[in-house]
Amino acid sequence: MEILATIKKDHDEMRSLLKTLIASWEAPAKDQAQIIGQIRDEMVPHARAEELVVYNSMRQADAPTDKVYHGFKEHAEAEGLLVALETMDAMNVEWKPVAEKFAHALRHHMEEEEQDLFPQVRAAFAPEELQAMAGEFERLKPQYRSQSKLANTIEFVGNLIPPNVTDAFKGDGTSTKEKT
Ligand SMILES: [Fe+2]
Ligand SMILES: [Fe+2]
Repeated sequence: MEILATIKKDHDEMRSLLKTLIASWEAPAKDQAQIIGQIRDEMVPHARAEELVVYNSMRQADAPTDKVYHGFKEHAEAEGLLVALETMDAMNVEWKPVAEKFAHALRHHMEEEEQDLFPQVRAAFAPEELQAMAGEFERLKPQYRSQSKLANTIEFVGNLIPPNVTDAFKGDGTSTKEKT
């Protein structure tokens, strides 16, 4: 399977989890927590792997990046809403509107990736590269799944840092500015 089919498969699974989430609005809190936990376990590793394997490959391939930066922003928004859902009791807010807002935001994000980003990715990489990206995506996801929330947030920021800055840190310790 190539990367875009792999991502689409994850998205379809997430669409079904979101349906279950919305349908659980009158369910006991422990059942809601269980489905929210399941969503986190799928959504966060998907997002981190997607950023590293797809978004950052686009940035390095000199391909269009407007959808990529838009995607980073939407990942951050979705994860913010997920934290809101996880901490609802403490925040004393109504559950259903937040769950609906979260589901709406995530469905919109997946639609945009499939309709706008996928054609750009397909145009930027050869079929064998798309295959290799799928392998890397599947290899990374379990690692992200076993990470703490803090480690995952650090990973998000790391993915967002421009590749040239990352290279500067990996290099001889001098900053990009000093090298030029
Ligand atoms: Fe995404
Ligand atoms: Fe995605």
